[in-house]
Formats: sequence, structure tokens, C-alpha cells
Amino acid sequence: MAKTLTFNFSQKRDDEHELLICFAAGENQLGEDATKIVPEGLFEKSSRTTGFKGKSLSVLDLIAPEKVKADRLLIVGLGEISEMEEPDWLTLGGKLGSLITGSNLEKTSILLDVKEIGASQAALIASGMKLNAYRFDTYKTKKDEDDKENADKAITVTLVLKQADEAEKCWKKEEGVIEGALLARTLVNEPANILGPVEFASKASDLAKLGVEVEILTEKEMSDLRMGALLGVAQGSVRPPRLAVMKWMGGKKDDKPIAFIGKGVVFDTGGISLKPAGGMEDMKGDMGGAAAVIGLMHALASRKAKANVICVLGLVENMPDGNAQRPGDIVTSMSGQTIEVINTDAEGRLVLCDALTYVNDKYEPRFMINLATLTGAVLIALGHHHAGLFSNDDDLSLQIAASGQATGEQVWRLPLSKDYDKLIESKFADMKNVGGRSAGSITAAQFLKRFVGETPWAHLDIAGVAMASPQTQTNQSWGSGFGVRLLDRLVRDHYE
Ligand code: BES
Ligand code: ZN
Ligand code: ZN
Repeated sequence: MAKTLTFNFSQKRDDEHELLICFAAGENQLGEDATKIVPEGLFEKSSRTTGFKGKSLSVLDLIAPEKVKADRLLIVGLGEISEMEEPDWLTLGGKLGSLITGSNLEKTSILLDVKEIGASQAALIASGMKLNAYRFDTYKTKKDEDDKENADKAITVTLVLKQADEAEKCWKKEEGVIEGALLARTLVNEPANILGPVEFASKASDLAKLGVEVEILTEKEMSDLRMGALLGVAQGSVRPPRLAVMKWMGGKKDDKPIAFIGKGVVFDTGGISLKPAGGMEDMKGDMGGAAAVIGLMHALASRKAKANVICVLGLVENMPDGNAQRPGDIVTSMSGQTIEVINTDAEGRLVLCDALTYVNDKYEPRFMINLATLTGAVLIALGHHHAGLFSNDDDLSLQIAASGQATGEQVWRLPLSKDYDKLIESKFADMKNVGGRSAGSITAAQFLKRFVGETPWAHLDIAGVAMASPQTQTNQSWGSGFGVRLLDRLVRDHYE
């Protein structure tokens, strides 16, 4: 990370701070404390001459007069503050983050002196700042000290508000969730030569330090469990597969767990059904589902969630080689159902089906939610702004959609039906792994549905949102970490 932000919460401003940020709400109404600090004439004249009207995220940038005791004074517009929802506070935080990291100053105070800003809004603002400040520059060896965008720097940010103590408590809870999202981003951004299945599994093991119980299944153990579908994908790679199982038992002793399962294809060449070269490098992100699940576990464990949670990652590499599986091969999944592999590039569902069976049989969870960069087709349907949601359970679907709305990580439900299910019938086996050109995301989901039995289940196809999304105030990174905040919210609102 190029710039690290450290947050303090205080009831008073420390006059030493070099960058001072104040707010203007509605029709250019300065906050309560700001009116005492910013000379009225200066604000009025600067607004008039620059056309600043306090519109949302607009900025008035002033050299602070002596009296203000700051080197630079920024007044940020809040617009119609009464209409601001949670994602808007995050976006505001993101904007502040970019102003702070883009300036040359190492200390900042932000006056949160508007009545609509309480402890939870302050924590959201801090979250937005931290999401904005994330950079993945591990492999840049030439960090230019004069380039303020890229120079390493530690910046202290003081959020000044009446409910400082309460805000700090809120932030302490939120911080782990944001760290979880940033961990997911890093895992997606890391190249596949660095992050193979074994290395990825050791990232899961790292969570033991937060009190997570971790078990890593090797090829031999998966073979004993007869995970023929997952192992069929893995057999073309010299790097062996792993199944990472993480447990957080923060709930009541006898409560059934809830379960999250992630597709962790560390690189997807397509296998023998090889992908075209153009853009293939993006397939280092084909473990975005597993990254989100590990990030979620980090979030839940660090805020000591009162829930019993099982997280499982199916970790493989999809490569073509002399031992790779072929189109036409028939594999037997752990469930006993046989699958004709028509296209070796439809590998995610082969990995997930065994992971789903494993979780369902072993833990009998209350529900299972899987996340996967599963189909290119979901990009055609929904682009980069919604993940595809598929489910056999209306209540679970509604809960997920509401959590998406609240966090800004949005989902859109797509249908499942017998008609679509028919499209994956096979001439030679119980099913085939692709359903033809049309409704590609739906047939992929129908495939997964065959492995969940009666358990409430949802599948999030995150191929369009986990990576290469348009940059926003809260995400300047290629890997977005999509799903961590959404699912943390789901657990928080409904399962603890
Ligand atoms: N990993 C891809 C899906 C993907 C595409 C993820 C673009 C992120 C961005 C998946 O394994 C895949 O290759 N799916 C095929 C399925 C097809 C062979 C039925 C696809 O979408 O083309
Ligand atoms: Zn593929
Ligand atoms: Zn894939």
C-alpha cells in the first residue's frame, strides 16, 4: 500500500494539523465548528468567485489564512445531506481519501460538525478513506519519491466530532471488515506464479492468528473423498490442488453453521479447450470467489461475529498438459453423479460441485452461498455493476439483495427453472458441464443446483464485479474485493 492512513477520533481539533477539511451542506451552509474557524468573508468570496455551491463531492480549495492555523483548507460539499445513504457516506470517505493522499501534507483534521454525521457515519467515512487509499504496488521496484501519487507515506487523519468515543468503537468493528475486503483485493491482484493453490491455502492458514480453525485437504484426502470433478480440473497442472476449510464458531454451541464456498481457480487457461491469448492474463483473478470468502472470514473473525460459519475454498489451477482432462471425459463427482466434460474451460462448476457436496454432507449447514467468477456470460447480462444472483430460496435471496443495497455491492437475481436444467442433459452421463450458447450463466447455476439438495443455497456469479471494474471513489484497484462487505452485512443483519 503506497499510503497508509491512521485514524484518530477526537472531540477537539489539534491546531497543529496541516490540512483542514470542513463541510458545506445544502445551500453552502458551513458546519457548526467551521463557521467559527473559517472567516465568513473568505468563504463567501471564494464561493462566489469559483462558483462553489456545496454540491455533493465538490471541493473548494483554499490557502488557509493565518487565523485558521492550517496550511491548506478544503471545504467539501455534501449536497442534499438528508438523502445520503450508506454507500454515499462511503463515497464521501473515498473522495476525502483521494484529497488527503493527493496532498503533500502528512496530517489532516476533518471537522465532522454537521448534525447528520454521527458515530456510524464517521466510521463509514473512515471506511471509504481506507478503501480509496488501497494500492497494489508490491512489484513496483522504482518508487519515485517525488511522485506524490506513488510515494510511500504514513498519514494521520483526525476525525473531529462530539461522539468521538462511540465513533472509534464503530470504526474498530468496521476496520476488520475493510481489511478483509483489502485482503481479497490483494489476493485477486497477485499473479498466479506467486499464488498457486498451495500458497493460497497458506493464506487461509494465516487466519489461525485470528482464532479461525483451519484445515487444509490435500490431493490424497480429496481423492479418498472421491472428488472426481475437482480433481479432473486439477490434473493438468503440476501444482497440486487444495481444499481449504475454515471454521469460526462464534455462535451458540448447537446452532447449525452457515456456509460460504469460493471458486479458487488460481489461473484459468481454459485447459485443453484453451482460451484465446488476448486478455488471458485476467484469469489470474479467477479465484475472486475464494478471495472474497477468505476476506469474509477475516472480517467475521476480527469483529468476533456471534455466528457459526464454515468457509471452504476449492483451489486448483486449470492448465493444458499431457495429463490434462479432455473434452468428452466423464468424471464422477463426490455426490456420485457423473459429468461429461464437454468444455474444459467450464471448470469452475466442476470445482464447486465437489466443494458444495463436501460442505452439505459434512456440516448440514443452514444455508450455503457460493461465490465464483463463473461465466463470461454474466458480464454480457449485467456488466460491471451487479453480480448475478441465483437461488433456490426466496428469503435468502431477498436478504442478500438487501445487504447488497445497503453496502453498495449490488446483486441482481436471475431465474432458474426445469427448462434451463434440461439444457445440461448429457447423452453419456448424468449431466454435461455446458449448456450451449444461450443463457450461459443460468445453465452454469443449474449445474450447481444439482449438488445442493434441499439446502437453501445461493450462487453469486461475480465474474463482472470481482475484477477490472470501473474505478470508483471506493475502489482504485483492479481486484475489487467484491462480496466481503456484502456478506459480512448479511451475517450481521440476519445470522447473529
Ligand atoms: N473463469 C471463466 C469465466 C470468466 C470470464 C471469469 C471472464 C472472469 C471474466 C470460466 O471458467 C469460463 O471460462 N467460463 C466459460 C464457460 C463456457 C466454456 C461455457 C465462459 O464464460 O466462456
Ligand atoms: Zn474457464
Ligand atoms: Zn474459470
